[in-house]
Amino acid sequence: MRIIIGENYRDMSRVAADMMASQIILKPESVIGLATGGTPIGFYKELVSLHNQGKFSFKQVKTFNLDEYYGLDKNNLQSYHYYMVENLFKHIDIDLNNINIPDGTAKDIEAECKSYEAKIKNAGGIDMQLLGIGINGHIGFNEPDIKFEAITHLVNLDEETIEANSRFFTSIEEVPRSAISMGIKTIMHAKKIILLASGNEKAKVIERMLNGPITPDLPASILQLHPDVTLIVDKEAGELIRE
Ligand code: F6R
Repeated sequence: MRIIIGENYRDMSRVAADMMASQIILKPESVIGLATGGTPIGFYKELVSLHNQGKFSFKQVKTFNLDEYYGLDKNNLQSYHYYMVENLFKHIDIDLNNINIPDGTAKDIEAECKSYEAKIKNAGGIDMQLLGIGINGHIGFNEPDIKFEAITHLVNLDEETIEANSRFFTSIEEVPRSAISMGIKTIMHAKKIILLASGNEKAKVIERMLNGPITPDLPASILQLHPDVTLIVDKEAGELIRE
C-alpha cells in the first residue's frame, strides 16, 4: 500500500483530488467510485476547483457511489444522493445519465442490488474507487463481521456507525438503521483505490488496518491484499503509522 501523509486536511484533499484528476485526464471515460461522509468534502471542493480551471471534463465519466441509506428518497437532505448533487454533481459538467447511486427506496431491494452490480460490470468495472473509513474499520457500509465475498447488498448499520453519523441528522432516532452498500468484493474489484482518513479519531483504525491481521472484524484490513491502494491521511490520522 502506498502511504501519503499530508500536512493537514487541505493537503490530504488536494493530493487525492490531483490523483483523481490525473485518472480522468489520462482516461476521460473513466468509471469512478465515490464516497460520502465528512472526510471527502474537501476532496470534492478541490476536484471542482481543478475542473473549473479547465483541466478536465466529466462529460464521459461514469460514477458509482458506494452506498445509500435505506428508505431515504433522493430528495431527502440527508440522502447520499442529495450530498453528491450538492458537493459535486451540480458544480461539474457530468451527464446526469452517467451517475449511479443505489436507490434506497427501491421496492425490490434484491433486484436493485443485482442491477447495481450489473451496471458496474457493464460499465467495464471501476477504474478508481474513493473510500473513507469508519472508526470500526468499515468501508462502504461493510460493518465488522461482514462476509468478504459480499457484493452489493442491504446492510444493518452498527450502533457505532449510527452514533457517528448522527452528527448529520437532527437526532439519532432519524438515522436510518440500514443501507444499500457495495460489498467488499465489489470494492476489491476496483482497479485502483484511494482511501482517505482525517483526524486523530481515525489514527487507531488506520494503524490496525495496516499492521493487524486481515479479518472480517476489521473490514478495511482486506485492502492489504489489493494491488493498488493509496492511503492518504492528514498528520492526525497518520500519527500511529510506523514508517
Ligand atoms: C460513505 C461511506 C462510509 C464513510 C465512513 C467515514 O459513503 O461509505 O464508509 O466513508 O463512514 O465517514 P466520515 O468521512 O464521515 O468519517
